[in-house]
Amino acid sequence: MCGIVGYLGNRDGLDVVLSGLRRLEYRGYDSAGIAMPVDGSIEWRKKAGKIANLAAAIEQDPLPGSGVAIGHTRWATHGAPTDANSHPHVAGRVAIVHNGIIENHDALRAELDGAEFSSETDSEVAAHLLGRELDGGAGLVDAMRAVSTKLEGAFTLVAIDAQDPQRIVAARRNSPLVVGKGDGEYFVASDVAAFIEYTRDAVELGQDQIVEITPDGVSVTSFDGGPAQTKDFHVDWDLEAAQKQGFDWYMRKEIFEQPKAVADTLLGRLNERGELVLDELRISPETLRRINKIVIVAAGTSFYAGLVAKYAIEHWTRIPCEVELASEFRYRDPIVDPMTLVVTISQSGETADTLMAIRHAREQHAKVVAICNTNGATIPRESDAVIYTHAGPEIGVASTKGFTTQLIACYLLGLYLAQVRGMKYGDEVAGLLRELERMPEAMQGVLDNQQPILDLAAELVDETSVLFLGRHVGYPVALEGALKLKELAYIHAEGFAAGELKHGPIALVSQDLPMFIVVPPRGRDQLRDKVISNIAEVRARGARTIVLAEAGDDDARAQASTFIELPRVSTLLQPLLAIVPLQLFACELATVKGHDVDQPRNLAKSVTVE
Ligand code: G6P
Repeated sequence: MCGIVGYLGNRDGLDVVLSGLRRLEYRGYDSAGIAMPVDGSIEWRKKAGKIANLAAAIEQDPLPGSGVAIGHTRWATHGAPTDANSHPHVAGRVAIVHNGIIENHDALRAELDGAEFSSETDSEVAAHLLGRELDGGAGLVDAMRAVSTKLEGAFTLVAIDAQDPQRIVAARRNSPLVVGKGDGEYFVASDVAAFIEYTRDAVELGQDQIVEITPDGVSVTSFDGGPAQTKDFHVDWDLEAAQKQGFDWYMRKEIFEQPKAVADTLLGRLNERGELVLDELRISPETLRRINKIVIVAAGTSFYAGLVAKYAIEHWTRIPCEVELASEFRYRDPIVDPMTLVVTISQSGETADTLMAIRHAREQHAKVVAICNTNGATIPRESDAVIYTHAGPEIGVASTKGFTTQLIACYLLGLYLAQVRGMKYGDEVAGLLRELERMPEAMQGVLDNQQPILDLAAELVDETSVLFLGRHVGYPVALEGALKLKELAYIHAEGFAAGELKHGPIALVSQDLPMFIVVPPRGRDQLRDKVISNIAEVRARGARTIVLAEAGDDDARAQASTFIELPRVSTLLQPLLAIVPLQLFACELATVKGHDVDQPRNLAKSVTVE
C-alpha cells in the first residue's frame, strides 16, 4: 500500500524515480509525486490520479536535473486523493514521502502550533516535525531518529533536506523498505521491483531501523542509534519478469505463467533417497512431531488458498487445522500455544493483518511458518521458518499465480508433515509428488482451451450478478472465483458451498442467472453426485449453468449450458486447475467492460495498513 522510491547516484533522478514508481504503481494509484533538492531548496511536483498524470504535469512544468530524488505513489488512507493530499509533503527545507498510518497524528498536529498544514494527511506531521528538528540544528539522520520515536503506528518515511542535498534518509517501522545497491548508486524502495532495472543486489532491513544513503554508501542504524542487523540478498528474477511481454495485462501474463510458476515452486523438493525435503523449513522434525494443531492465517486470495490447504493437510496428517482471516485472528483471543503450528500465507509478505497475527502467535510461543513469494519481506523475516513460492513477481493486483503456487506450498507442507509424523509411507508421498509434478502440464491444457471461457465473458458482459458453487475443495475455488469477479468486473459475485444452496442462496436464482459450478472428479462419486444434483436444482429454476468438470463426465455435461472441461486429477489437487478458467473469465470480462484489469478501483496489491 503506497509505493516509495528514493534514488542517489549519477543518473537523472527524475527518470529513475518515475520508472520505479511505474513499477510500484500496483501498490496504490490514487496520486503520485516526486521531490528533489535543487540549489538549496526543494523542487516538487505532485498530482492526483495515476503516474501518467504526474508525468504529464512534469512535461508541462519540467523539473531541473538532479541525481537525488524521492517519489511516492499513493493509496489514500487519510484525506481524499487530491493534489494537496498527494506526497511528497514539504515543510521548508525538507520533503518526505510516507507509507503507513501515523496513528497519533492528531496529537502531533496539535503540538505543532504555528505550522502551516497544506493537506489533511497524517503524513504531513512528519514533514513538519522533521523541519523543526532540522531548524533546531540537527542533521537529517538525528532528526529522523527523533521524529521516528515520536510516531505511533506503521511507517516508512523517506526524507531529503535541501540544505544537505547529497543525502537520503529513511526510517521504517511495520512498513516495507528495501535498499538497492548499484555501482556508485543507491536506491530505497517499497519493493525491489522499483530498482530491478539497475541492480539486483539488495539489503533486507529489520524493524525500527534508519537508513542513510550518501555517495559514500549505505549505513543502517537502529532507532536508538545502535548498530543494526541487516541481510544482503540477490534478487533471483530480472527486469523481463516484471514486464508484460506482449500481454495486454500483467494479470493475463501471470495467469499464463502458472504452469511455470507451479513447476518452479516444486523444483528441488526431493532428495536422492526420494524423500520430500523443505530446505527453508527451519523447524526440527522433533518439533513438528509434537504439533497438535495447525492454524492457517491469511487475507484475501491467500486466505482461500488456506481454505483449500485445510482439506489436504487434515486428510494427509490427521492434525486438526483451522483457517482464520488474519484481520480476525488476534482479536478473538485464539487458542494458540507452543504445540500449535501457525502457517501464514502471504504473496507479498507485507500484509499488515497477517504480520500482526504472526507477532501475536509468537508471543504465545507458537511456531510460525510463512508461505511467501517475496524475498526480503517482513513476514518471512519475522517467522520461524519459510517456504518460498517461486512465482516470480506478481504485479496484477488480483492474485493468480500467487494463489496456485501457494496451493503447491501448502500441499508440500502437508506432505512433509505427513512424512515426518509417519502418517504416509515414502512411496505414498512420492506418488503424490509425482502427481503434483504433472500439474503444470494439466494447467497448460486448461490454458490452451481458453476460447470457450473468453467467448462466455464477451457474452455475459452486461450481467450484474454471477454466482459460484463448489463443494469440498471446490468451495474455496468458488469463493476465489467470485472474489476475482468482484475485484475486476465490479459486479455482484458470490461463492457458496453447494450444500448450502437450499439454506438460502437458491432464493437468488432467477431465469438465466449465470452460475459457475465446480464439479469434483469422479474419484469421489458421492461428493460429485451431490453436486450434479445441485446443478439440476438450479437448472430447474432457470439458471444458466457453467459447469467445470473433468473430461468425460457426461452427467455433468448434460446439466451444463456451458461445459468447461478440466483434465482428470485427484480431488484434492483439482483447485489448481478449476481456478484457471475462473481467473480467465474475470480478466476477460473486465477487459471487455473496459476496466483497468491490473489496477482495479480502490484496491492495492499489498495492504500494509490494518
Ligand atoms: C490484497 C490483494 C490480494 C491479496 C491480499 C493478500 O487484497 O489485492 O490479491 O490476496 O491482499 O495479500 P498477500 O500479499 O498477503 O497474499
